[in-house]
Amino acid sequence: MICESKNKSYLKSQNLKIFGQGKLNGRVEISGAKNSALVLLAASLLTNERIILENVPRLTDIEKMGNILKNLGVNLVHKHNNLEIDSKNISMKELPYELVNGLRASFFCIGALLSKFGEAKVPLPGGCNIGLRPIDEHIKGLKALGSEILIEDGIVKAKIKGKKKQLCGTHIKLNCPSVGATETLIMAASLAEGRTTIENAAREPEIQDLCQMLNKMGAKIYDSGKETIIIDGVNKLGGCKHKVIPDRIEAGTFLIAAAATSSSITISPVIPHHLEAVTNKLKESGSKITVQGNSISIQSKKLKGVDIETAPFPGFPTDLQAPFTTLMTIAHGESKITETIFENRMNHIDLLKKMGASIKLDKNVAHIKGVKTMKGMNLIGSDLRSSAALIIAAIIAKGNSKIYGLEHLDRGYENFESKLKILGVKITREFIKKTFTEKEYKIASEPDDIPKARVA
Ligand code: EPZ
Repeated sequence: MICESKNKSYLKSQNLKIFGQGKLNGRVEISGAKNSALVLLAASLLTNERIILENVPRLTDIEKMGNILKNLGVNLVHKHNNLEIDSKNISMKELPYELVNGLRASFFCIGALLSKFGEAKVPLPGGCNIGLRPIDEHIKGLKALGSEILIEDGIVKAKIKGKKKQLCGTHIKLNCPSVGATETLIMAASLAEGRTTIENAAREPEIQDLCQMLNKMGAKIYDSGKETIIIDGVNKLGGCKHKVIPDRIEAGTFLIAAAATSSSITISPVIPHHLEAVTNKLKESGSKITVQGNSISIQSKKLKGVDIETAPFPGFPTDLQAPFTTLMTIAHGESKITETIFENRMNHIDLLKKMGASIKLDKNVAHIKGVKTMKGMNLIGSDLRSSAALIIAAIIAKGNSKIYGLEHLDRGYENFESKLKILGVKITREFIKKTFTEKEYKIASEPDDIPKARVA
């Protein structure tokens, strides 16, 4: 089992060796959605009965969440991509810092633990490479539902007010359509007394997947996917079997990789309308997209630059901004990429420029002029999605590249290099005997002709 805190140097001593100017061809299978599976695991805390989750991707983030649940006394059995979860012997309500650290989604357990046990203690998730990642919307909503919240020594301590055993349904208006806050509050409200309405709720497919599973467990949730979600609290939730939806971000990453290499591929299973903002932009830039049931095919020739601005669903997803930026570096003409969701999600720009891209970055707006070629080099990913962007850049570049920092990639893409290899990309995961620490950066000796650089 890979868990970053124990194997940090091990994971950092791996790299992906990629031969440039690759082409993709054929069909690739899309895994279950990381950002759905994580919240569904948190939701399993709401019942004492068995939950069977199908189509769970094998990722380090999922393993971390599994370890957190095990630490609470939950029994988890992995059967390939299925997970059997049994929370009847759950013993404590406090999430340990060493397990929570680095997995923001673990904070979403607070709503489930609070509504089930009347109290919860969860370490503050803290910021990460893409931004501060505040939790004020989570806290505001939990207070509105009738809890007292104390933040002491980096721990969020929540307790249902007074002698009440249940939270109390109410109207909550979010200042921003936060995915995590919407999920936390849906889980908290599902066992509250009375009706809760969440206005300005996030509408992402992963939230709809959560509501579908909760309703199978006996919850009464209406209008998920709309701007106002209604939850009528119930006294108890039961077990169920639920299949995780396909990962729209992984799917979009492969479509973008195909467009960047002027390739034709088919991806499935997908839910096409989860990807509409992305397929519309790919069509606008010149790719041919064909939707057939739960599969999407793309044929790409020469592409032209298009502008994108990230937005909450159903807008263009922030998680595909970095891969799409890579695509625009070699598109004909100019394009503008505007990141509106996270304050520090342009880490890949510096490195793409070192590879030969022509980009002018003005805060969170990248002005790109398409170039003919990029050059391969050693690259170090600094977050999950920029690592995927660098891999796409390495595939289109002239010359070979090595991508380090795979602990980020392995959080969110299941068998990524194997899937790319099946599509025809010359890519291998290499294990360096000698591990190295961040500050040393003594990457295994390489021919001098490949410049080395690191994502900011
Ligand atoms: C979820 O993060 C996803 N993670 C992210 O995916 C995704 O990028 C993000 O939603 C947006 O779609 C998981 O689902 C595990 P938010 P989350 O709360 O819930 C502000 C990936 O690469 N905000 O919707 O943390 C916040 O600062 C990851 O798979 C507040 O101001 O995102 C940000 O600007 C990265 N107060 C914006 O909302 C709050 O209390 C969106 O954050 C919460 C958020």
